[in-house]
Amino acid sequence: MYHDKLEAFPEDFLWGAASAAYQIEGAFDADGKGPSIWDEFTKIPGKTFEGTNGDVAIDHYNRYKEDIRLMSEMGLKAYRFSVSWSRILPDGEGKVNKEGLDFYENLVDELIAYNIEPVLTLYHWDLPLALQEKYKGWESREVIQAFKQYCQVLYGRLGKKVTYWVTFNEQNVFTSMGYRWASHPPNATDTKRLFEANHIINLANAEAIKLFRKMVPKGKIGPSFGYGPVYPLSASPDDVLASENATDFNNSWWLDVYCKGKYPTFTFKQLERKGIAPTIESGDLELLKQAKPDFLGINYYHGGTVAQNKIESKSIESLNDKNFSATDPYLMQPKEEQSQSPEVPMFQSSENPYLNKTEWGWEIDPVGFRVALREVYARYDLPLFVTENGLGAKDMVTDEGTIEDDYRIDYLNQHIMEMKKAVTDGVELIGYCAWSFTDLLSWLNGYKKRYGFVYVDRTEQDEKEMRRIPKKSYHWYKELIADNGENI
Ligand code: BG6
Repeated sequence: MYHDKLEAFPEDFLWGAASAAYQIEGAFDADGKGPSIWDEFTKIPGKTFEGTNGDVAIDHYNRYKEDIRLMSEMGLKAYRFSVSWSRILPDGEGKVNKEGLDFYENLVDELIAYNIEPVLTLYHWDLPLALQEKYKGWESREVIQAFKQYCQVLYGRLGKKVTYWVTFNEQNVFTSMGYRWASHPPNATDTKRLFEANHIINLANAEAIKLFRKMVPKGKIGPSFGYGPVYPLSASPDDVLASENATDFNNSWWLDVYCKGKYPTFTFKQLERKGIAPTIESGDLELLKQAKPDFLGINYYHGGTVAQNKIESKSIESLNDKNFSATDPYLMQPKEEQSQSPEVPMFQSSENPYLNKTEWGWEIDPVGFRVALREVYARYDLPLFVTENGLGAKDMVTDEGTIEDDYRIDYLNQHIMEMKKAVTDGVELIGYCAWSFTDLLSWLNGYKKRYGFVYVDRTEQDEKEMRRIPKKSYHWYKELIADNGENI
């Protein structure tokens, strides 16, 4: 599809930036907060880069006013953040922690005072540890009730102030990393447990949306999904079929449930044949059907390329002792000989000869962003909200004290250009949140993998003063917002 002239972004387009509680807040045990599964997991030797954790992070809990002032000086229209469940309910359920709730209400009030639209994520991976210990976390349906209570408290307190709500952040990523590759809590390598837990999370997502309809009738709610388009390695029909399988397995497996209330047939059948399909109880499918979101949040970093799987199906156990690469979460595939879907040989991951990679081996694929937006919009017919997109890089402070991150500007510029083409194609878009506003803790890569518009002066080992320094990209994004992406 070609266009003579690209169309403008909608007048009220939400230019934003995003973050997550564990990656920025710190204050891990302040003011009555209970521990989360990440507070525990990061303390297991060897799990994170140089043993980094979010105990202090970038101290946003104490510096949120300074951070929001920087957002306002930039002209940011929206800020996506997540709430730490165990700040609100230290035991995950039961007694509410007033100070935790006050913190988020103050944060929201501060954003609103500066005319910045708050976009609130309910779950960005930090399940209260008490629920993991008491119920085995998402493997138990008890946790759905706890999640409902948590949602109820937040809807009640913030439902009149916050319009945009995100239920789960990247369910595909945290379930795969947590239950299949043991690189997130609960540190498991068991696909049966993965699909069982994932189904329970689907039910929790549906309950949260149902309750939202009652309590926040004017609000908008949807999940944020880590979407990666899948390319066939060649035009061979076998490779094309493999790419359809991979799309089904890696994307539709979640998006169909969110939007159509049912699992995709082919993948479900494959999992059933292997004895690892989730247990569906009576009433589950009816519930899933009642919870269509208002929008789909899309997190886009990269997609993947696949070929026909020529490797014989191996058991998950035989694959587990190999090295895992955390850089390819969307295809949920480890490297080389493991690069297949281990329990169901539906496809095999391949290198894409046309794409460059970041320092961390993530493919850079702006056109894939347009492909992603179009695919999702065509399939599900819902407005889209880009809730994450950005470049992780090792930024350096110059002798003059500036950060000249032209590579980040270049990356964002190319992606926003493709997004503008998608808008011109006809994709309905609410907004775009770059990842991230400030530098923050990368779950597994410490502090040197930086994403922010604002540099935070700290390293893995030295917290220093955590001074905030706007980077060159901060000023670039400020101009872009000011002219609504007109001159991109
Ligand atoms: C997304 C997550 O998967 O990717 C973020 O929602 C995360 O929380 C981001 O930080 C970048 O990942 P990483 O591993 O580079 O920090």
